[in-house]
Order: sequence, then C-alpha cells, then structure tokens
Amino acid sequence: MTNTEQSIQNAIQKFEALIRAQQARAESIRQTGDFVDYDSLDQLVIGVCGGDGIGPIITKESARVLEYLLAGQAAEGKVVFRVIDGLTIENRAAVGKAIPDNVLEELKACHVILKGPTTTPQAGDPWPNIESANVAMRKALDLFANLRPVKVEKDGIDWTFFRENTEGAYAVGSQGVHVSEDLALDFCVTTTEGSERIARLAYEYARRCGKPKVSIITKANVVKTTDGKFLDICKRVGSEYPEIATDEWYIDIATAKLIDEKRRRGFSVFILPNLYGDILTDEAAEFQGGVGTAGSANIGKRYAMFEAIHGSAPRMIREGRGQYADPCSMLRASVMLLSHIGQREKAALLERALDICMFEEKKLVITGRNDGCTCAEFGDYVMETMERLASKKAG
Ligand code: IPM
Ligand code: MG
Repeated sequence: MTNTEQSIQNAIQKFEALIRAQQARAESIRQTGDFVDYDSLDQLVIGVCGGDGIGPIITKESARVLEYLLAGQAAEGKVVFRVIDGLTIENRAAVGKAIPDNVLEELKACHVILKGPTTTPQAGDPWPNIESANVAMRKALDLFANLRPVKVEKDGIDWTFFRENTEGAYAVGSQGVHVSEDLALDFCVTTTEGSERIARLAYEYARRCGKPKVSIITKANVVKTTDGKFLDICKRVGSEYPEIATDEWYIDIATAKLIDEKRRRGFSVFILPNLYGDILTDEAAEFQGGVGTAGSANIGKRYAMFEAIHGSAPRMIREGRGQYADPCSMLRASVMLLSHIGQREKAALLERALDICMFEEKKLVITGRNDGCTCAEFGDYVMETMERLASKKAG
C-alpha cells in the first residue's frame, strides 16, 4: 500500500469511529427525559466554578450577589452553594483533559452551575491543545441550548439568541483528521433530535413571551447537508406555532442586517447552529456595550450552566489588572440563573439594579484599569442599588 493510501485508510477508520459515536449520541438524546422540576427538589445545589484568568475574580463577585439574594433559601437549607476549584488551565493541562475527572464529578453533583471563563488553548500556545472546557462541559452535561439575550431599549433592540450548543462545527471540533500532510478535514454534525429540541425551546419561548417572530440563520445554500437539515427541521417545528412568524436568513446577510438600524429592529428571536451562534452573539453584544456586558445560559434537561460570553482575559492578569475586571457579564448570567431556578422576582431586581448601575446612574464605572472602580466595588454598588430598590418598594 502506498503512504497516501495508508493515510486514507487511517482517516477512514477515525471517521468511522466518529460516525458511530455521533449515531450513539443522537440515539441517547431520544432517551433523555423531560426537564428537571426544580420545585420538586428538597435542595438545589448551585456550583460555583471560577475557571481561570479573570474568571475567579468575576465569579466570586457574582456568587456574592447570588448568596446575598438567596440568603433566605440558603438559611432554610433549600439552596446550597458549592465551590468547585480545579478548572484552571494549569490543572487541565497537567491531566491533559478539558475537564479533570474529579471536577466533572463535582459538576455532576450540582443542579445549576455558575461558571467563570476558562482559557481555551489553540495550536501554538504554551498549553497542550486540549478541547475547550466550555465546549466539553456543554457536551458532558448535554447543555444543548445556549440562550443569549441582547437588549438596547433606546435603539429598539430586543433579541434572544437560541444557539444550538452541542452539535454543528463544535460536535467533533477537536477531533478533525489530518489525513496527510496536505489534507485536513473537520466535520459538521446535525441530528434530527438535536435540531428539534433547540427549535422547540426557541418557539416555546417565543410563544410564552409573546415574541412576534423567529429567524432561522444558516448557510443552507452552501452547507447544504447539515445546515439544510437544521433549517428544514426548524421550519417544521415552526409550522406548529402558526401565531409566530418565521423567516430564514443566511448568516452573511444576517450579520450585515444587524448593523442596519432600520432592519435590525425587526429581529426578535433567533435560532442558529453552533458556530454561527457563537459569531453572531459576539456581534450582537457589541451594541449593548461589548461582550463584557453579556451573559449566557447553557440549558439542558438535567443541568444548566451560566457564564459570561467572553474569555478569561489572561492579559489582564499578566498586567496585574485582575481586580479591575468587569463582573457585569457574570452578573447578567446570574440574572438568568435566578430566573431559571424560578426566582423571577429576584432576577428582575438584579436586572433592574444592573441597568441602573451600568447604563443609567453610572456612579461607578469599570474601565479595566485603575482609573475605574474595582470588581468588588462594583459588586458592592450593585448590592446597595438592590437594597435601595427593595426598600423603595417596601416603603
Ligand atoms: C463562547 C466562547 C466559546 C465558544 C469558546 C471559548 C470556546 O467563544 O462561549 O461563545 O466558542 O463557544
Ligand atoms: Mg464566543
């Protein structure tokens, strides 16, 4: 056999293993039960997992705000906070795993998780090129929906992104094949089950919240098989919601239309495959003040994880500016956590306080440097603002 023929045979074997694993995953989605009912639990366990870089700093601040808001529930034993260390890049690199086994075990003993950013290695870094901890966690806990809200009232922007979170270009993103020196292949995965569940969640949300329209974003004219399937399934699910308008956009023109002041007001709910969802939500967050202001909820049937949409900013740590990191993304993620566990009033209170602190009153401003306030000072400011709001309501 020639060398080239041997490389092709090796690649085919790897490809076969990937196909079998993905087929098994698709079948296991069908077996998963319904969403966990948090009200039926004796005790809800909230994991607090700091990550690395600025992660531990901004996570600690958000956990402090959550502990303050849930003090009553914690005193009654209904809610318990559990700190989970060990998701640092140093530990992950040492064991050569995206999530060390003991950390995964601890994560699985929680119901919901507040997770700080984690450094994602790429080829050429000093770190081994292991899979991203975010991506691995989304897969390991089957957090299939990534919800990312973006709101700028004065500009008429009120968007909710439903990014598919376990499939597409990410499903086997770290298992592509270098067939030969000159040929590399990655794979994109779409399953019926995976597409249906994200579409259903988006349309159910639109129905519940009275949203007028769902936009399905793909590149189905070029990526015909996987994007084509995703689009077909979303449209089929959409046809069960006749009161909600559905439109479809290609990712390139959707990206352009987000900066078209008139057209962008017409968007409401989006459904996107994983990679387009990653890209478009960073763009969308920019209208609201940047990725530092945006939180995200990773929702599955059994677990849910709440995080910032940005990375771990190792440069801030290297430059000794960690204490000036902006906790707003994690605080926004905390709003989503509260609302996911049924604490809607507390979620609304924190959201209102954040709007006041970030956009209206702005008594303290985060700049990421020592000409602005620290992360902890901002946390205090948010808590004082909540106290003010609560006493105004009581009085
Ligand atoms: C995000 C991030 C991650 C992603 C990275 C860190 C792997 O950009 O949550 O959007 O691509 O999903
Ligand atoms: Mg991203």
